[in-house]
Amino acid sequence: MQLEGQSVIVTGAAGRLGAATVEALAAEGAAVLAVDIALDRVQELCDRVRSTGARVEAVQADVSAEHEVKTAISAAIDTFGGLDAIFNNAGLVGLEHNVGLLELNTEVWDRTMAVNLRSVMLCCKYALPALIARGGGSIINTSSDASLAGDIENYA
Ligand SMILES: NC(=O)c1ccc[n+]([C@@H]2O[C@H](COP(=O)([O-])OP(=O)(O)OC[C@H]3O[C@@H](n4cnc5c(N)ncnc54)[C@H](O)[C@@H]3O)[C@@H](O)[C@H]2O)c1
Repeated sequence: MQLEGQSVIVTGAAGRLGAATVEALAAEGAAVLAVDIALDRVQELCDRVRSTGARVEAVQADVSAEHEVKTAISAAIDTFGGLDAIFNNAGLVGLEHNVGLLELNTEVWDRTMAVNLRSVMLCCKYALPALIARGGGSIINTSSDASLAGDIENYA
């Protein structure tokens, strides 16, 4: 129980990495605000994790929308009395849109940038004051090996 007394936000909480992280944090005693755009899936996760005795709350938010991020982070502070860490993990994996530039739909580009990049800026912006108020905390951002090297596999 190394995280007892700590409160943590996980975005993209209903997905593969997010759900596993929520479970791991809760098992270590953290109070977790699980944020996802998919309400049913994030509630289902929280119901399951809460049945182990953990303190976990579900919030539906689109992390690319500024007011929704602001509201979700306020909810964590109101519910848990502060914030110690945020895991910016929500993202569009988007394999179905993994196409070459000539076939790329501009709306898909814009949505991907909003969810995968803008959201991280917004979550950091609104979480930082709460982390500073606690005297420090952690910000963890999920990236991808796709940021290190291109992948020509699908264009051959
Ligand atoms: N799985 C991989 O192989 C892999 C590889 C590299 C990077 N990543 C990154 O890791 C992160 C998690 O990946 P995963 O495999 O768990 O993906 P996943 O698709 O299982 O989960 C992503 C979650 O994010 C949520 N989400 C999507 N848009 C959102 C939005 N606008 N607001 C709030 N929530 C939103 C989805 O509902 C979903 O529950 C993503 O950022 C992804 O890009 C994953």
